[in-house]
Amino acid sequence: MKRKKISSLKGELHIPGDKSISHRSVMFGSIAEGTTVIKNFLPGADCLSTIDCFKKMGVEIKQENSDVTVYGKGLDHLTEPKELLDVGNSGTTIRLMLGILAGRPFHSITAGDESIAKRPMKRVTDPLRKMGAKIDGRSGGEYTPLAVRGGHLTGIDFQSPIASAQIKSAILLAGIQANGTTTVTEPHKSRDHTERMLSMFGVKLEEDKTSVSIVGGQTLKGTDVFVPGDISSAAFFLAAASLVPNSEVVLKNVGLNPTRTGILDALRKMGAHLKIDRKDHGSAEPYGDLTVKNTTLKATEISGDLIPRLIDEIPIIALLATQAEGTTVIKDAAELKVKETNRIDTVASELTKLGARIEPTEDGMKIHGKTPLLGGVSVSSHHDHRIGMMLGIAALICEKPIDISHPEAVKVSYPTFFDHIDKLAEKA
Ligand code: S3P
Repeated sequence: MKRKKISSLKGELHIPGDKSISHRSVMFGSIAEGTTVIKNFLPGADCLSTIDCFKKMGVEIKQENSDVTVYGKGLDHLTEPKELLDVGNSGTTIRLMLGILAGRPFHSITAGDESIAKRPMKRVTDPLRKMGAKIDGRSGGEYTPLAVRGGHLTGIDFQSPIASAQIKSAILLAGIQANGTTTVTEPHKSRDHTERMLSMFGVKLEEDKTSVSIVGGQTLKGTDVFVPGDISSAAFFLAAASLVPNSEVVLKNVGLNPTRTGILDALRKMGAHLKIDRKDHGSAEPYGDLTVKNTTLKATEISGDLIPRLIDEIPIIALLATQAEGTTVIKDAAELKVKETNRIDTVASELTKLGARIEPTEDGMKIHGKTPLLGGVSVSSHHDHRIGMMLGIAALICEKPIDISHPEAVKVSYPTFFDHIDKLAEKA
């Protein structure tokens, strides 16, 4: 796909629903008793994989674009799947679903695409085995396909070595089905959508700084869920409007959960022109409108407990940093190596092709700005949606057009991404 420079971006966008919240709404609705009505669901490939997996376990789910109804009948009504549970490209689907499967008294096999086959699963399968689940897979349960025979679980007190909402959520979902109390403690707090949504479904949890505990045997009750726009998707347009001259863009109803707003903190540190209008009225997940204008940026450091609050935004932050005055240092982010691609390598290789000066490091990267991006070359998403979108925004400021291969990867989290760029470019 050829993409080229534009003179400015103007207008308003409704960013599609949050991916993390969309997954959870379908999963929790599927194990709840009673109907769950979901509005502004993200109809991206990853969340459609979640719907497909739960349908294969006998749950009736109706989906029409971003309206979804899940007819839950409770955990005990999930049935043994006759087919492979195919999670496609979705790490969230497989890891969270493993927590549910761990307690179900049946056999299942889960697998996904080539990227999923390379992603580490022991971080989830090891603690779930400790709780009593039988799970096997390549390299001792590290890689897909994974075979699960769930059953009787016992609560654990788990100290996670990594701040990861996928690990935390998998263990809590097993914990609901376990005897006694399950506690997860993280080195830094990861996104807390599971905790917030379990409360909406009537489950009691106890939270203390970076720990969360759940008592087993609780029942989820179906409910209505409004999914705010995904701040990780909004991030691409926050960056685009900051970088492209004479731009002003309004992003409506974007999720503002504090465990996800690290990108707003990073943008502020870089000197971005950003206005936030909170619009929710005490809903479980806060949201609001974001207005962003083009401005000059300065380098910053991104590290420590900021990392889990913006982990998915690092590819687009790297692009911003190429246009910021000074050297931006990103560290404590070794988790980037085990995302949909090794995002330290893919970000550095693709941005370097465009003319950026980036030094990959063991746990992040150093980006030297301000460096003009010349473009005029072919780059690749490497089948990673966030790399594809970062390159789609990079094209807007490259001197010469660029050719992006595998642009369809964006469908995983933002099927209308390129249409949205074109819409804002037209208004300009
Ligand atoms: C997610 C958690 C994060 C994030 C992923 C979605 C979630 O992964 O990168 O895109 O919905 O729980 P980790 O928990 O592995 O950090």
